Amino acid sequence: MSHEEFPTDRPAVVTCGLPYANGDLHIGHLRTYVGGDVYARALRTLGQETAFVSGSDMHGTPVAVNAEAAGVSPESFALDWHETYEETFPKFRVDFDNYGHTHDETNVELTTDVVRALAENGHVYEKEIMVAYDPAEKQSLPDRYVEGTCPYCGDRARGDECDEGCGRHLEPGEIEEPRSTITGNPAEYREQTHKFFRVSAFQEYLGAFIDRLEGTANAQNQPREWIEGDLRDWCITRDMDWGIDYPEGEKPRSSEPEAGEGADDLVLYVWVDAPIEYVSSTKQYTERVGADVFDWDEAWREDGEIVHVIGRDIIQHHTVFWPAMLHGVDYEEPRAVMASGFITLNGQGFSTSRNRAVWADEYLDEGFDPDLLRYYLATNGGFQQDVDFSWERFRERVNNELVGTVGNFAYRALLFAHREFGGTPDPEAGVSEEVHDRIEAAIGEFGAAVNDYSVRKVGDAAVSLAAFGNEYIQRHEPWNLIDDDPDRAAQVIRDCVQVAKAIAVLFAPVAPGTCERLWSQVGGEGSPHDVEIEAALEPPTADLDEPTELYEKIPEERVEALNAKLEERIEAAENGDTGDDGNGNDTDAADLDPIVDDRIDFDTFESLDIRVGEIVTADGIEGADKLARLTVDLGVEKRQIVAGIKQLHNLEALPGTRVIVLANLERAELFDVESNGMVLAAGEEADLLTTLDDAVPGERVR
Ligand code: MF3
Ligand code: ZN
Repeated sequence: MSHEEFPTDRPAVVTCGLPYANGDLHIGHLRTYVGGDVYARALRTLGQETAFVSGSDMHGTPVAVNAEAAGVSPESFALDWHETYEETFPKFRVDFDNYGHTHDETNVELTTDVVRALAENGHVYEKEIMVAYDPAEKQSLPDRYVEGTCPYCGDRARGDECDEGCGRHLEPGEIEEPRSTITGNPAEYREQTHKFFRVSAFQEYLGAFIDRLEGTANAQNQPREWIEGDLRDWCITRDMDWGIDYPEGEKPRSSEPEAGEGADDLVLYVWVDAPIEYVSSTKQYTERVGADVFDWDEAWREDGEIVHVIGRDIIQHHTVFWPAMLHGVDYEEPRAVMASGFITLNGQGFSTSRNRAVWADEYLDEGFDPDLLRYYLATNGGFQQDVDFSWERFRERVNNELVGTVGNFAYRALLFAHREFGGTPDPEAGVSEEVHDRIEAAIGEFGAAVNDYSVRKVGDAAVSLAAFGNEYIQRHEPWNLIDDDPDRAAQVIRDCVQVAKAIAVLFAPVAPGTCERLWSQVGGEGSPHDVEIEAALEPPTADLDEPTELYEKIPEERVEALNAKLEERIEAAENGDTGDDGNGNDTDAADLDPIVDDRIDFDTFESLDIRVGEIVTADGIEGADKLARLTVDLGVEKRQIVAGIKQLHNLEALPGTRVIVLANLERAELFDVESNGMVLAAGEEADLLTTLDDAVPGERVR
């Protein structure tokens, strides 16, 4: 490749594909944003000046169609979603330097300028084409308002995109057997005048561009067939209200007199103004921090390193249309395109309509640290590979790699250092040669990963360093050395604290939150995000506080509960049931009792002694077909409790199960067996109440 390695002395811009502001985010979306965030942070760690930007994609039929279904104007619909996204990304520690939207003033202005410049440079012309039209609704049917058959592969397709088949962009009029998605009727074709961007004139340029382009292999290879084949011009206007107006005063270059439905009524195709937001968002960043901190103009118009991080379904837009546009107005071309594979859930595709998804909010509501998901998404496969998500695999990776390797090493090393030496033994003495070399190797791997556009390898560089740390501490057994050879023990621990510090630096792009904690545990000042990679080898502080664990194990029951929730939701969606009848009540629950009217005071509630218990034994009571005799450990004492669960549960499997017990219920005798308390259960099937996490027997429930 003709590009200089990172870090270079030019400003870099890392962008993430703009999410359409039209619905909830799920972890499939997050893969791109986490990937972009890891990459931008890693570049900075290497010392590369970097802006990380994105924004919401507000226009086009993906927004208009959903807004219509929701019965609100596209503008307020899109703005609402925009605000949600703006709040959601930081919760996953995806920290854009600027997050704008395509309908804001900066983008409307810049888009207008860019399109004007394209036209002035002779790259735009006007042409009459046949567009789909719904005679019953008396309106044009751009893009997602029409469905039919893809002319290239024969699959079912949307108006502008063969989304389930070959993935190609489709031009207006191209789709076969068009049907209106509004009425379901066959669409008619009508003549209309539209603006076209002369992409075909850029064939030679694009051929050379694609040879220079870096990034993932899919983005370098897939476009070749489009570029080398029959490059079609690109219709850049649409007959709809919602969008950025085609700039006025741009006289058509064709000699045809302007038809009634001319460019005046047209808005720009959403794919024109959306990528321009990459530039607008960078511009807003400069306006906020000043050009001496980051100069958008230099990055985009003189000498920048532009890296686009996207989903693989929009490779064509980023390797054909967008670079042609940039070239047409003399802007910098992308240096790299990183296109991520898709995400499946338990081996099947995500389906937002079927509620087969793990939603971003849902993940956060479960109380998991965002770093866990970041780690999974960034490293569970190569960036361009399709990746499967399952809670089981999530648990495995968290427990084995984050808890077992990274967390375990850091905690052991720092606890030992704190207990035996009050911190780093002899910080200035330096690390042993072996450890120095090993950290240098990790630094090398990190740099190579960035230059290889591999977020997975960025994560691997740190995790394998932690694995080395564990092996090193195990090999030297400092706990055995401490009495016989305290100097050796001190050196080993000195080495280990250095490794922990290096992990805080190298793992910070992937796990920014936990690495901030680790960084302060090794006495680091400020944040690991503000230091460069050399800090990995700088001496740690002498005095160190007692460390805390970085990660927590996920118990197996948790996975079962999460899977059960997911299954339930999918089932509810299949039954056409959103789980909510609009009044906040579960519609499945038509035969539920109403909530009891009589209120109790808090003291009455406090008088109930409800405890966490653990079943020790469970046997059927002879002669009683429903009753079981349980021994339940309540921490303070063991109780015999009779419960009506004999036929509803497999008694043999119950020992070890945590249950919730009303401990101060009056004693009773059932079938001559004393029952001392009550095990709480819900519903006809005596679904036993349990705890989600690891509350210990005897703890009170309140
Ligand atoms: N909103 C588009 C999508 O979700 C992506 C736009 S990316 C940009 O497919 F390049 F246009 F910015
Ligand atoms: Zn197709």
